[in-house]
Amino acid sequence: MAEFRFVDLFSGIGGFHYGLARCGGKCVMASEIDPIAIETYQKNYSITPKGDVSKIDIADIPQFDLLCGGFPCQSFSNVGQKGGLEDPRGALIYQVIRLLKGCKPKAFILENVKGLLSHDKGKTFKIIIEELEKCGYKVYHEVLEAKDYGVPQIRKRVFIVGVRNDIKKFFTFPEPTGCEKKLSDVMRGETEREYAFTIRIGGRRSGIDNKYNWDCYRVNGELHYITVEECLEVQGFPRDFYLAGNKDNQYKQIGNAVPTVIIEAIGKQLQVLGII
Ligand SMILES: C[S@@+](CC[C@H](N)C(=O)[O-])C[C@H]1O[C@@H](n2cnc3c(N)ncnc32)[C@H](O)[C@@H]1O
Repeated sequence: MAEFRFVDLFSGIGGFHYGLARCGGKCVMASEIDPIAIETYQKNYSITPKGDVSKIDIADIPQFDLLCGGFPCQSFSNVGQKGGLEDPRGALIYQVIRLLKGCKPKAFILENVKGLLSHDKGKTFKIIIEELEKCGYKVYHEVLEAKDYGVPQIRKRVFIVGVRNDIKKFFTFPEPTGCEKKLSDVMRGETEREYAFTIRIGGRRSGIDNKYNWDCYRVNGELHYITVEECLEVQGFPRDFYLAGNKDNQYKQIGNAVPTVIIEAIGKQLQVLGII
C-alpha cells in the first residue's frame, strides 16, 4: 500500500492514528487540548499534539493527504445539552471546514455519535454536509458498528468521508468483516454476552441490573467490571497501550476514542479505491 500523510484533529488517544498507521499512514500533525490525552498521544506515537485547533495557522501545517477527526460530540449526543452548532463544541466542525478550505487534502474522514443525524430534526447534519461539500468535496456517510469490523463491542457511530472533487473516484464504505473475537476471549472466561456494551465516559458502576449499566458483566457466573485493558481491546488498541492519568482519566480517554479497526478498514478502502 502507498504511504500517505494525515492530520489528526481532536486526536484524543489516537484511534485514527493507530488505525491509519496500520495502513501505512504517517501523521504530520495532531491537535488536542486535554493535557492527559496529549501525554498519552506523545508517549505512544512520539508526536506532541498542538493545542486548540482554532489557534492553528494553516501556513504551519505540513503538506498532507488526509484530514481526520472525531469532532467533539457532547452537543449532539443524547446525553449532552444538545446545543448543536450553536454550542462552541459543536462549532468546532467549522475548524474542520477552515482547514479543508485552506489545505485541500485529497480526502477526509470524520466521526461522530449517531445522534448527529437526528439533531434538530436532521437540520444540523444537512448543514454540516452542505458546508463540507462547499469546501470542494463529494461527501459520503454511513453508520458503522464496531462489532462488524472485528472487535466485540456494540458501538454505532456515523462516519463521514469526503473525496476532493477533482479526484474522479467514487467512495464506498468497506464491507463488514464480522467479528471472530468474542467478549469471552477478551474477558478470558464464559460471558453471558457476546459483545461488550458501548464503552462510555460516564455512568460507571451503576450496577448490572441498572438500565445505564455498561461496565458490569457476568463472567463464569461472577460479577466482573470491565478493566481498562479489556476496554482497550474492544476499542481495537493493544492491552499494553500506555494511558496517562488515573483510572477515571483512562476510562474516559478510551470511551472518547474511535474504534481503530473501523478507521483501518476505511483507510484501506481509500487506498484500494486509489483515492489516497
Ligand atoms: C470525541 S474525542 C476524539 C477522540 C479521538 N478520536 C480518539 O480516538 O481518541 C474529541 C476530542 O477533542 C478534543 N478537543 C476539544 N476541543 C478541542 C479544540 N478546540 N482543539 C483540539 N482538540 C479539542 C477533546 O479534548 C477530546 O479529546
